[in-house]
Amino acid sequence: GSSGNFFVGGNWKSNGSKDSVSKLVKDLNSSKFPSDVDVIVAPTFLHLPYVVDNIDPRYQVSAQNCWVGKAGAYTGEIAPEQLLDLGLQWVILGHSERRSLLKESNEFVGEKTANALAQGLKVIACIGETLEQRESDQIYDVLDGQLSGIADRIADWENVVVAYEPVWAIGTGKVATPDQAQEVHAYIRKWLSEKVSSKVAGATRIIYGGSVNDKNSAELAGKEDVDGFLVGGASLQAASFATICNAN
Ligand code: G3P
Repeated sequence: GSSGNFFVGGNWKSNGSKDSVSKLVKDLNSSKFPSDVDVIVAPTFLHLPYVVDNIDPRYQVSAQNCWVGKAGAYTGEIAPEQLLDLGLQWVILGHSERRSLLKESNEFVGEKTANALAQGLKVIACIGETLEQRESDQIYDVLDGQLSGIADRIADWENVVVAYEPVWAIGTGKVATPDQAQEVHAYIRKWLSEKVSSKVAGATRIIYGGSVNDKNSAELAGKEDVDGFLVGGASLQAASFATICNAN
């Protein structure tokens, strides 16, 4: 496993209203988890100012995307420097929903990662294969391409967390088995050791995402190379999310 703290991210995706977000923040503020676990929440852009201002400082706050350059004439986009100005530390990049629905390529995700790091954000970089790719033995080619898209464009991995999210496990209730997760996480760590450095491989948190919940998180967390989670649905329930934050 990584030498860093256990890491749990809550990706709220396009969920929430003013009312539900204020209730969730209130519930999260009274949740308990060990002080050596890094817990990050990622609301929509609209809810970021409220969450940054109202969530307990035990939590760090993340955006779910950002622009590939600086602020300026880019209609509808939000630049890393603007997220930092608001008080955020993190951004999720390369989520499979954006790769598939918005056609984000490996190269574009790599460029966005490099830009976000250069401006001072930390990045949760998501990778993962579809069921079709897994069943046709393309999984490692796909993961290599996604990792290279990032590794070709950044030198410093200190502020990167890699999230392995098999697409077939996202929002499906079909969680990867602990052995399936471990196998891929070990592969990613080996890839980092061979293509980047053994130091980076040893220090980088590799977290799992895809139907993680309060029932399956402890067993997954027991695996050597599972350094935390990126949680979708279950992160919208403070009690379930707290259980996951205590899974290690
Ligand atoms: O980024 C988290 C994610 O895609 C997993 O979603 O709902 O399966 O936990 P979910």
